[in-house]
Amino acid sequence: MLQLTAAVRHSEFVGPETVLQVLDAPSIASQVRPGQFVMVRCGGLPLRRPLSIHAASGDRIALLFRVAGTGTELLSRVEQGCTVELTGPLGNGYTVPSVTGRVVLVAGGMGIAPLCFLAASLAGRREVILVHGVRCSRDLYQIPAALRELVQDVEALDNVKWLQATDDGSAGAFGSALEVALPLLEEAAQVYLCGPHGMCVAAHGFASGNGDITHQLSSVSCSPRMRELLVSAEVSLEVRMGCGVGACYACSIPTLQGRRKVCTDGPVFRFGDVVWEDICT
Ligand SMILES: Cc1cc2nc3c(=O)[nH]c(=O)nc-3n(C[C@H](O)[C@H](O)[C@H](O)COP(=O)(O)OP(=O)(O)OC[C@H]3O[C@@H](n4cnc5c(N)ncnc54)[C@H](O)[C@@H]3O)c2cc1C
Ligand code: FES
Repeated sequence: MLQLTAAVRHSEFVGPETVLQVLDAPSIASQVRPGQFVMVRCGGLPLRRPLSIHAASGDRIALLFRVAGTGTELLSRVEQGCTVELTGPLGNGYTVPSVTGRVVLVAGGMGIAPLCFLAASLAGRREVILVHGVRCSRDLYQIPAALRELVQDVEALDNVKWLQATDDGSAGAFGSALEVALPLLEEAAQVYLCGPHGMCVAAHGFASGNGDITHQLSSVSCSPRMRELLVSAEVSLEVRMGCGVGACYACSIPTLQGRRKVCTDGPVFRFGDVVWEDICT
């Protein structure tokens, strides 16, 4: 884990509330793995904010974040040429099992941030399908030109099949990322998820047999194969954090193995190990 000051190479709003920042951080870029995160100082706030690595290669890393409150609002105002203080890379990353075959990534909202990095790292070696669900067309995300220009490995995303879905049907498929992804699971070898708590709870309910998921067009039932894939899927959790390094227990969650800290034991967990019913958001 490193503490460093990184120069901001690029900062732009890529959606109404979504900011892309590309930072010069060679020591993090050289060792970070998909699924890991950094703690970022936002203005003068005492607590740093956790943000996933969205892309990394060469000397650079990229962050993609939604302006959710005071910290991310302050960070969004940091312009090109200024610096930010970071700690990272933190947490464990996604694991890539040796099985071959289709990989399905299910991203709800800002869950796209870490899953893009994973998709880029798997593309070329696997058939990768990335399903991104957002509320409406204005929240859709397309890889910004500046990211392609400044972070070379992002090119690999051209080999990823990218499906978009909107809750209101204003663009892409009508429905949530989960609804669109479920029919793809029958042919999948591995699944990764990152998204809002509601998406994970819905996936858990589906896998537990507590109801079919009704898609806009049809009803999908959980087959034993789908259940097995969801239970063994990897999920990246976004809970409130304090220290980010295992010292304060602010991020502790219930798992089948007892309470675990998202910052040091996660943020990536086996989906079936998380006790979803008992997680407070
Ligand atoms: C490991 C990890 C990786 C993350 N990666 C990203 C990312 O790549 N992009 C991104 O946009 N966000 C990410 N988040 C969420 C991000 O950390 C929060 O949105 C941010 O800390 C909010 O800070 P704030 O000061 O702007 O808002 P605050 O004023 O602190 O809170 C504003 C609102 O955001 C909610 N919130 C606060 N912290 C979190 C949190 N940790 N997770 C979810 N909701 C929160 C609060 O409940 C409140 O409703 C990640 C969180 C974790 C734990
Ligand atoms: S945030 Fe302090 S222990 Fe995880």
